[in-house]
Amino acid sequence: MEQKNLAIITYGCQMNEYDSEMVAGVLQAQGGYRLIDDLEQAQVILLNTCSIREKAEQKVFSELGRLKQLKHKNPDLIIGVGGCIAQREGYRIMERSPQVDLVFGTRNIKLLPQLLAEVINKKAKIVNTEPLLEDINPTYIERKGKVKAWISIMQGCNNFCAYCVVPYTRGPQQSRPSWQIEQEVKDLAQQGFKEITLLGQNVNSYGQDLNGEIDFPDLLALLNQVEGIERIRFVTSHPKDFSERLIKAMAELPKVCESIHLPVQSGSNYIMERMNRKYRIEDYVDKVEQLRTRLPQAGITSDIIVGFPGEREEDFCQTEELIRTIEYDNIFLFKYSARPETPAASFPGQVNENIKQERFNRILSLQKSITFEKNQSLEGSVQEILVEGGSKKNPERLTGRTRNNKIVNVDGSDSLIGKKVMIKIVRAKLYSLEGQLLN
Ligand code: 5AD
Ligand code: SF4
Repeated sequence: MEQKNLAIITYGCQMNEYDSEMVAGVLQAQGGYRLIDDLEQAQVILLNTCSIREKAEQKVFSELGRLKQLKHKNPDLIIGVGGCIAQREGYRIMERSPQVDLVFGTRNIKLLPQLLAEVINKKAKIVNTEPLLEDINPTYIERKGKVKAWISIMQGCNNFCAYCVVPYTRGPQQSRPSWQIEQEVKDLAQQGFKEITLLGQNVNSYGQDLNGEIDFPDLLALLNQVEGIERIRFVTSHPKDFSERLIKAMAELPKVCESIHLPVQSGSNYIMERMNRKYRIEDYVDKVEQLRTRLPQAGITSDIIVGFPGEREEDFCQTEELIRTIEYDNIFLFKYSARPETPAASFPGQVNENIKQERFNRILSLQKSITFEKNQSLEGSVQEILVEGGSKKNPERLTGRTRNNKIVNVDGSDSLIGKKVMIKIVRAKLYSLEGQLLN
């Protein structure tokens, strides 16, 4: 069978990156496709979309505009849209962008070979976003790197934070059976992968839907035993389920890295309640303190939303205060974006764009100084990094991460890729560190 060229454009979070690896894997194994980068050479272009904020959606529709030109030149080109926008909008995507031939969902990627064959053979337009809930295990995955791999341990989310579309686009929480995750990790170890990152919208509630057979700390203990794997990371952790048991697991399991992404969203209990986050700031701070007592070197990052409906100046000041108290290694900062269907979109007290921007800028500069100071405090220290690959800008340079997830660039030969090496930090930058190899 003649191979067809496939290009995939991915937007959004790591879960989407992972799903794109699955799209590529399934279509290579079962559809006769070859993955390429050049859109001009592609016979099929698939967009894996994100709808977390309005801007993410706008990007997709402007890309679809560009692809329309490409389809003018090459009328046989097939354009497909999957991911969160597709799941939510379905056929409305085709109404808005008639150049689209196929709309598929976040939970039916396994159907793609069949759906694309139908589109091509019957010259049909197809919308299928029906989730395949009975089997959530991925089949084929075409991974990008050779050192680090993502593994989804669960799908969906049951939390319904008032601002968030994810529960509507990715459905209810469903955990994968632990033995299947373990098997996947063993296979990765055999292929030579050294680091795994476990993915889920809320990994801390892993297993809650598996009749209490296993929880997240137990899963970490299970995977810590897989020979060949040297580092284990995980994202994202919801503070309400971040437990002492997890802190203990992080402290005691040697492969689990001292790094956690623990989104707080806001420093005000009033906003917290309106966001339906189900924890109080005091408890959050307390948990971070417990973590730091056990693991003083732990890297801690967070997500912050500014301008959530009802956010007063005093609430915002509490967020600034919290950031000063915790001193995050880094944060991902967002201006609140009203999403259709979510409760917060119709809350009173929507904050105007200028105030959002002003608050955004204030937090950004506060966090920048904290991040830089933290990085500077590492100058002169010795750290273990896992070398991930060559630096993108300079092939003589290697890049890797410390256990607590700081990016380090260092001179060295390609033969070190996939190895753990000790380096001395010689200079701090804002978002990375310069290191020197020690022998
Ligand atoms: N507006 C702004 N930020 C949002 N996030 C999720 N939904 C929205 C929204 N409607 C942010 C949260 C979440 C991260 C992945 O994206 O901070 O943790
Ligand atoms: Fe969205 Fe909240 Fe679920 Fe995270 S935990 S995916 S922010 S609803």
